[in-house]
Amino acid sequence: MKQAIENGHISGDGPFTRKCHAFLEKELGIRKALLTTSCTHALEMSAILLEAQPGDEVIIPDFTFVSTVNAFVLRGARPVFLDIRPDTLNLDESKLEAAITPRTKAIVPVHYAGVGCEMDTIMDIAARHDIAVVEDNAHGLFGKYKAKFLGTFGSMASQSFHETKNFSCGEGGALLINDPQLLERAEIIREKGTNRSRFFRGQVDKYTWVDIGSSYLPSDILAAFLFAQFEQHEKIQLHRKQVWELYHVGLKDWANAHDVQLPYIPEDCEQSYHMFYMLLPDLELRQKLIAYLRERGIYSVFHYLPLHLSDMGQSFGGKIGDCPVTERVSDQLIRLPFHNSLTSNDQEQVIDLLQGFSF
Ligand SMILES: Cc1ncc(COP(=O)(O)O)c(C=O)c1O
Repeated sequence: MKQAIENGHISGDGPFTRKCHAFLEKELGIRKALLTTSCTHALEMSAILLEAQPGDEVIIPDFTFVSTVNAFVLRGARPVFLDIRPDTLNLDESKLEAAITPRTKAIVPVHYAGVGCEMDTIMDIAARHDIAVVEDNAHGLFGKYKAKFLGTFGSMASQSFHETKNFSCGEGGALLINDPQLLERAEIIREKGTNRSRFFRGQVDKYTWVDIGSSYLPSDILAAFLFAQFEQHEKIQLHRKQVWELYHVGLKDWANAHDVQLPYIPEDCEQSYHMFYMLLPDLELRQKLIAYLRERGIYSVFHYLPLHLSDMGQSFGGKIGDCPVTERVSDQLIRLPFHNSLTSNDQEQVIDLLQGFSF
């Protein structure tokens, strides 16, 4: 970050932003990565790029963060909430085809906890109906499905570098672009609707307003903060793998004995080790456990509330019973502390406390 300041370039698209782009492109083997100010903004860019508009529908999993859907609703599209699989908590691909209509503009699978969705089926259905796929890969950087990186299947994918993610710059994200036809317009939308990037490459002699857009590029100081972590990505991912495995080994028997569901990783998937969640038998026990841990100085959290039952979801017609798996999972899920400076001692303490929780 000091170097960014010394470079005299702390606005967007400076040397560290370019390093981050090059890193993501090389590591993931993708056409183009563009840092953004958040994953939310990367999703907004994808909605603009697909020209989502009133009259369009977008299919999203009901169990996700609001940004997955808001990005498209902002453009006037109507959300279609699909229920999730009870094992991976990812969009239930067996229900996908029935949700498609002539108005479907995009399918936005979320790789929940960095465990890949059933991408073969999703991509096949999308191709047969000529519908774009945007992967919300907020959790899944470096996760793989059938040996291919998450974020490299759809025409675009969004990444998050929010504080809670494996790699972070406080607030940040990226748009990964796999469809070359979207590349030039993506640069323009990210740069306030101007052809500034072409100007700096010497491809035009002045830059001007050519499209709609906004300011979606982060400061180079943030890019420097992020790049320092990219330089250590193997170490960070190894540590997160160890954290995940210690929880898994330490809690397997306890979970079996108490009807607690631990994460399921399909054989085809290599996860990104983003989080460790558990499904308690019911809401009452989940709330009791969160309070029990909090009283002992451990902060655990739950998420997401079913989108179709939120105020906005109901305004789009959502009602109880539409997505039964999401409705159940949302009551049962708890996330254990999981961050890059968590030690095995911290984790042993959490595991010991869990073993002492009375059901
Ligand atoms: C699945 C999903 N998509 C999008 C986001 C939004 O990410 P950001 O905070 O970078 O905008 C989140 C946030 O955690 C998320 O979990």
